[in-house]
Amino acid sequence: MIQNQPIGVFDSGVGGLTVAHAIRNLLPQESLIYFGDTAHLPYGDKSPESIRHYSEKIAGFLLDKGAKVILIACNTASALAYEHVQEFVGNRAKVFNVIDPVVESLAGLPNLHKLGIIGTKGTILSNSYPQKISMQYDDIEVISLATPLFAPMIEEGFIFDDISNAVIRSYLSYPAFESMDTLILGCTHYPIIKNQIRKFFNFKVRVIDSGQIVAHQIKDHLLESGLASTAGKAEHQFFVSDYTEMFEKISEMFFEEKITLQLNNIWK
Ligand code: DGL
Repeated sequence: MIQNQPIGVFDSGVGGLTVAHAIRNLLPQESLIYFGDTAHLPYGDKSPESIRHYSEKIAGFLLDKGAKVILIACNTASALAYEHVQEFVGNRAKVFNVIDPVVESLAGLPNLHKLGIIGTKGTILSNSYPQKISMQYDDIEVISLATPLFAPMIEEGFIFDDISNAVIRSYLSYPAFESMDTLILGCTHYPIIKNQIRKFFNFKVRVIDSGQIVAHQIKDHLLESGLASTAGKAEHQFFVSDYTEMFEKISEMFFEEKITLQLNNIWK
């Protein structure tokens, strides 16, 4: 029964688990099948061609596993490979990215005038956020900044300490961010340092991440299309293309629960 098939989620590594976690919380009856492409991590520095190639292969893997929905839980792949994955998947499953739901959610926000976006080099250089925002809103000033050290810093466990505080201060003291009222965390790793970022701005800047927003959009889709699970119990599976104990250890921080990673090198 298609309703009881899993929601497929993928990222370059374990960052997308922050979004998987939000889905698990909002839709506890839905099974998840997660693929972290740890063999090709980080995506932020790769060419658009490579990201499209990786994303297509992973989407194929998730379809083979019966995914009823595919979520690209990586901003870099969302920016560079969304249309490509949509074309590849066709009518076999609905494909979601993590950028469009966030851009749409801005419509309801009061006092939004100056908006910052931080993300990987790939996401920021793609100009995806500013383009999508300017197509839907004409009165928001958008300032983008690549913050490539954040993802490896988080993965190495530098959180709420002197090193992470120094890196956050160095990036976010960006003069163009002066008088910014809202900041989008355009990388699925960044929710881990969300509170630290809010604190850096003395809690005066609204900080948005994609987790809950995307989870709600998937919920709406499942209800509207009659695809919500009817099974009483969810079963999750987590795959990585390269396994190390370190990935398993840090995945717990992103999913807020101990999980077992299974090695599945789909590139062989
Ligand atoms: N989690 C990925 C994203 O949202 C970034 C990490 C990477 O560079 O692979 O863009």
